[in-house]
Amino acid sequence: MKVGLKYLFERKPNVKVIIFAGKGGLGKTTCSAALSYLISNKLNKRVLCFSTDPQASLSDVFERDLFGKGEIPIANNLYVLEIDADKRIKEYVEGIRQKIRDMYKIEEIPQEVEDYIESTIAEPAMYESAVYDAMLEVVTQSKYDYYIFDMPPFGHGIRMIAMADLLSKWVDKITEARRQAYEYEAAAAAMKRQKVTEREDLMLNELEDIRNKIMSFRNLVVDPNGTAFLMVLTPEKMSILDTERAIKMFESLDLRVGGIVINQVYPPWILSDPKASEYLKKKVISQKPLLKEIVDKFKDLIVGLIPMYNREPKGLEMLSKVSSELWESSIDLESLIGK
Ligand SMILES: Nc1ncnc2c1ncn2[C@@H]1O[C@H](COP(=O)(O)OP(=O)(O)OP(=O)(O)O)[C@@H](O)[C@H]1O
Ligand SMILES: [Mg+2]
Repeated sequence: MKVGLKYLFERKPNVKVIIFAGKGGLGKTTCSAALSYLISNKLNKRVLCFSTDPQASLSDVFERDLFGKGEIPIANNLYVLEIDADKRIKEYVEGIRQKIRDMYKIEEIPQEVEDYIESTIAEPAMYESAVYDAMLEVVTQSKYDYYIFDMPPFGHGIRMIAMADLLSKWVDKITEARRQAYEYEAAAAAMKRQKVTEREDLMLNELEDIRNKIMSFRNLVVDPNGTAFLMVLTPEKMSILDTERAIKMFESLDLRVGGIVINQVYPPWILSDPKASEYLKKKVISQKPLLKEIVDKFKDLIVGLIPMYNREPKGLEMLSKVSSELWESSIDLESLIGK
């Protein structure tokens, strides 16, 4: 059984956006960095590797200080953008404050409104919306051939899609209600030969703007031709269960998972290596039934297989090794599970 992203790229030549999702700490950042390096280096295409992780994990894996510094070139064709989401939220909220001041022609925002704004800043939804906003922004600018998104852990991933759907319906309703009110006011104003207040227009525009952003984001994520939504898992019971659950949830939201990358697999040649420790040999054996379970459960979804390394894969040299494995794995999955 040949496993590798190479085959996914052959099957789906129009994929330009790759999203790595999955539970925390299993390899999303490692996969994002490795695939970005491969696209820039092997495919010779311009690629942007993107993250909003406040832990600055791309800085860590690329061994460069990138956090909140914009699009930074790392190697030929390879750019990294590590967004400071908190800063973006602050800027966004400042924009809202300004709009309120302009709309109501006031200098000071009333304390109760200010309290409300402060409480929304703390909402996880704000963090997520800052993330989508930043994602959309880079994709719509079309400066790169490929976009690789290193997503925050699961919970966010699932909620973000569900929320896009809910929010969109909600905004639709409000927009419609406002439009009716606006038309009514406009008609009343026309009868009185007055101009309808500019304020209504601004609010409607703002709502429609939010709705359009949400929909564009959703369309980007669920587009099966242009986007591959990949999940990273490891041969561990919890990881398999979580992935299974997540796939079901994503499907209920019309989001088809494009593939699964199995990370941290102890390679089979450890068994025949006289220098390998007993501990490692036991690891190979204990992963076998779990890998079999992964194959049984996810079969055709498996698009990548990465071995467990004896140190954290960091720096371009090490990422180059990971990327070769991700592209076409040297491990034969069938021989590993004994089929
Ligand atoms: N195949 C591997 N072999 C050895 N170490 C690995 C491998 N893959 C990942 N790691 C290490 O495991 C840790 C978690 O990996 P990574 O940061 O890529 O996960 P993540 O899914 O991005 O985590 P988070 O959800 O916290 O962002 C890192 O220290 C990384 O270097
Ligand atoms: Mg990460």
